Amino acid sequence: MKGNKGRSTLVVLGRTKLGLPAVLLFCSLFCLAGFFGSILLSQNIPVGGVPRVRVLEELEEEGEWRAMAHGETGESMISSIPFQVLSWKPRALYFPEFATAEQCQAVMRITKSKLRPSTLALRKGETEENTKGIRTSSGTFISASEDPTRVLDYIERKIARATMIPRDHGESFNVLRYEIGQRYAAHYDAFNPSEYGPQKSQRVASFLLYLSDVEEGGETMFPFENGLNMDIGYDYEKCIGLKVKPRQGDGLLFYSLFTNGTIDPTSLHGSCPVIKGEKWVATKWIRDRTKELM
Ligand SMILES: *[C@@H]1O[C@H](CO)[C@@H](O)[C@H](O)[C@H]1NC(C)=O
Repeated sequence: MKGNKGRSTLVVLGRTKLGLPAVLLFCSLFCLAGFFGSILLSQNIPVGGVPRVRVLEELEEEGEWRAMAHGETGESMISSIPFQVLSWKPRALYFPEFATAEQCQAVMRITKSKLRPSTLALRKGETEENTKGIRTSSGTFISASEDPTRVLDYIERKIARATMIPRDHGESFNVLRYEIGQRYAAHYDAFNPSEYGPQKSQRVASFLLYLSDVEEGGETMFPFENGLNMDIGYDYEKCIGLKVKPRQGDGLLFYSLFTNGTIDPTSLHGSCPVIKGEKWVATKWIRDRTKELM
């Protein structure tokens, strides 16, 4: 009934000769409609939907995202692991404050006495003698189960959650220390079968946890980032390309393989020489197969 009444009023108005008061009334009505209309539009309200502003307010009031029903192996909480995409070529992610300073110190403390000169996987024709100087750090392998402080267990779980690759695809942690002048010339973490022979399993990704700050030097470098420097006869020693400066507790993840399983040539990387200070890093290599098959 109300609707009908309104419509008939309009019809009547349409037929009536409009006087000055009516014109003024219309003008002010349109003016108000325009004013509120523009406010509504500026709030990005989807057609026929709920105003976005209100949705945001609701979230802020609740203070957190609402968790969804989860599966047997899922988690009941919503958590956040901040990251920055450093590059798509190679696929490299940076995780600020992945671990705390205390956690980093604990890992350095338990591995310090076990450090030995780092070794290389040798290609055909390579010997310890003719590869001297390529990798000059010292390091040790340690599994999460060998760490009485349980810090490595925590880190390993967090890496698995960040990558969604189950933790039994990871090798033991390789904890490395680079002193002044020490470095690792550019190399691939994946093993090219044409150079290393057939492989039982392949390294898919690498997660580096920087355990210390480095005063100067010691960056992780990707010389071929975005296809740069690939045709200059790069000598594998120069510190060029994308450089990531180590910061205690921060993580760096990059993929060595494309999704089709072939090696990403831009995943070539190395460690620039430490110029001042000391560099400590815990590396987790993640494979395409589980431990028993490595
Ligand atoms: C694998 O994927 C990369 C990147 O998409 C592509 O350039 C390459 O040609 C692919 N290789 C094969 C054998 O499919």
